Amino acid sequence: MRMVDIIIKKRDNGELSQEEIDFFIQGYCNGEIPDYQASALAMAILLNGMTTRETTDLTLAMARSGEILNLSKVVPIAVDKHSTGGVGDKTSLVVAPTVAACGLPVGKMSGRGLGFSGGTLDKLEAIPGFRSNLTTEEFIHQLKSIGIVITGQSADLAPADGKLYALRDVTGTVQSIPLIASSIMSKKIAAGAQAILLDVKVGCGAFMTNLEDARVLAELMVEIGKLVKRKTVAILSDMNQPLGQAVGNSLELKEAIDTLRGRGPDDFREHCMMASGYMLALGGHAKDENLGKKMAEASLSSGEAFGRFHDFIHAQGGDVKYVDHPELLDKARIIEEVTSPYNGYLAEVNAREAGETAVLLGGGRERKGDVIDYTVGVIVHHKVGDKVMTGDALFTIYANDEEKMEQAKQKMLAAHRWSDKPVKPLPLYYGTIH
Ligand code: URA
Repeated sequence: MRMVDIIIKKRDNGELSQEEIDFFIQGYCNGEIPDYQASALAMAILLNGMTTRETTDLTLAMARSGEILNLSKVVPIAVDKHSTGGVGDKTSLVVAPTVAACGLPVGKMSGRGLGFSGGTLDKLEAIPGFRSNLTTEEFIHQLKSIGIVITGQSADLAPADGKLYALRDVTGTVQSIPLIASSIMSKKIAAGAQAILLDVKVGCGAFMTNLEDARVLAELMVEIGKLVKRKTVAILSDMNQPLGQAVGNSLELKEAIDTLRGRGPDDFREHCMMASGYMLALGGHAKDENLGKKMAEASLSSGEAFGRFHDFIHAQGGDVKYVDHPELLDKARIIEEVTSPYNGYLAEVNAREAGETAVLLGGGRERKGDVIDYTVGVIVHHKVGDKVMTGDALFTIYANDEEKMEQAKQKMLAAHRWSDKPVKPLPLYYGTIH
């Protein structure tokens, strides 16, 4: 087999066989296939697509490029949740302890933020001492002992995806539905959970900006999950405006802790309870997602979810003083509230602009490996549809640099749009794919 023939076949819109896909992934991982040929194939896939069969074969080839955990040997059933990424999306921080407190183990490998989209590990690492580099043995031990673990992806899991993703990032080939689906599902399969909830975000602050593409991606991932015998459900959720109010690592951590204590913004709490409900149903701990949601709400109001978060942070070396007193976390030096310059109904609170503002302030990464400032970010005080009056608090910026503060203020003002006429609030969800 020759790599050039595989590239030509895909360039001419052909369907690759399982052997050809395995040949590509194995050769690329062991260094026999160079980056330029892998880039050419990635571009041909982006332009011509893949069938579900090809995408499943690619997913499995990438999953098999490293270790595949089998968590069924550790706990009766473990559940995982994956968000395709968004702004203000601190859902895992609430959902994982809530579901674990209901008796369903959650074993999760999370990522870091890149570009406008935030990452769960960065939010957790705002807690001094928190470790997100657990070994596989530590992961398994903690899942067994306290039923909750969130760590960084081990280098042994789906290494082909790590290599291919870095290449796609610099060759304009990230935005391909089969490549995104296989990238996400290969990691989920390798991480070993038997049930997976996929939270596919839709909107200007997400990878998928329109509902049709998001639906195609969600359907493809659910299909792959089923083909490999993982119970998989996808929800399509809104990412046109930030989820909750906080965007920025420490700010989001505080909002998640607040929510675990029964407070927090309504939209974020509702999203977390709904996602927890689906996970509990997927794991067989609730008859359906509505009963699951009720269980989740009970675990939140009894304080058990918060207690489990406490145990989890302690188990991973984090100083729990900051869980009990998040107000002790380091703060940004300059904090400024900006008020609404107009009367009207909010027609837009652009999630992407808010995410980019957090990056501009130093809270995110332009490039992999950039050092981030946990303290900076934005709190948005209103949602689309809210009526605001001149002088009402619109957003608050947390910065450590005067010039960036000014830029952030301008960017966040531009992220808001007003209408004279009433505006319908945005829905939280657009549908579920079973
Ligand atoms: N997230 C992933 O893990 N992979 C992609 O390709 C896109 C988003």
